[in-house]
Amino acid sequence: MNLKIRPRRNRKNASIRDMVAETTLNASQLIMPLFICDGSGQKIAIKSMPNYFRLSVDQALKEIKEMQSLGVNTFALFPAIPDALKNSKASEALNASGLGIRMIKEIKNKFPDAVLMTDVALDPFNSDGHDGLVKNNEILNDETVEILAKMALLQAQAGSDIVAPSDMMDGRIGAIRKTLDSEGFKNTSIMAYSAKYASAYYGPFRDALESAPKFGDKKTYQMDYRNRTEALREAQLDIKEGADMVMVKPALAYLDIIREIKNSVKVPVAAYNVSGEYSMIKLAAQAGFCDEKKMILETLYSIKRAGSDIIITYFAKDFAKMQND
Ligand code: PBG
Repeated sequence: MNLKIRPRRNRKNASIRDMVAETTLNASQLIMPLFICDGSGQKIAIKSMPNYFRLSVDQALKEIKEMQSLGVNTFALFPAIPDALKNSKASEALNASGLGIRMIKEIKNKFPDAVLMTDVALDPFNSDGHDGLVKNNEILNDETVEILAKMALLQAQAGSDIVAPSDMMDGRIGAIRKTLDSEGFKNTSIMAYSAKYASAYYGPFRDALESAPKFGDKKTYQMDYRNRTEALREAQLDIKEGADMVMVKPALAYLDIIREIKNSVKVPVAAYNVSGEYSMIKLAAQAGFCDEKKMILETLYSIKRAGSDIIITYFAKDFAKMQND
């Protein structure tokens, strides 16, 4: 064939492929979620998340040390609260000596240079399992936002570097920014879970924290997966209210949303490669149905290529190890 143009020339060996690769991914762009429980010496398997654990703080410290040596230095902390401490007011969320705040102080004390991102939402503390206060089956917005602002302040005081509201209440970014600024925490960052969809992919996470909603679903606050324009509206609103970074969640079924937001905002965009996305790959690999390492790389690169600057992922360690090998 007399072909002048042959795109395959740019793929002919690994060095050329590396040279023309359009997407790069570094361990430093990953955030590792950690599920923290009370006690010491605890490393409790999570049934629906193969090879992921709930860790007591002492064990989490070991994990953080190892991850730092692999090049990951940002951690998203989620406390696992026992049922006995949950109630309909989610009052444990504002307990300054409760696990949710204590874990931040203890980790920051040992690793002052680790970047800690903390979750602002009521579901781990709420006996109803919802992200906001519930009254007559309604998830209250404004009353919840007041609590969230106090919660974010407690986290900032404890040493959180980035507070990350995952609740999807209206107006919470503005309220949190105002509270942080008025209390002297003008340097505490906010990563907004801006386009957080009501998703079945959160199942294993709710198993990890035993935080599944006790009634109904989260569709009156989390987004409808049929919507795209609305995601832009949410991101723009959060940026206007003071968000330093915006997030799309989940990642894989929402790659178009990541790209859409990346093309229209000027702040860093993050994507949350959620628990269900993790377990799908881990379980398929365990069954021998796929090449786990290759699938992890392809997945993470696709999220990066879609436009995400930062990826929150349970594969952080798998990726960092591969990169260090
Ligand atoms: C709740 C929260 C959820 C996740 C992070 N924060 C679950 C939910 O909204 O029900 C899910 C993360 C994951 O699935 O990995 N505030």
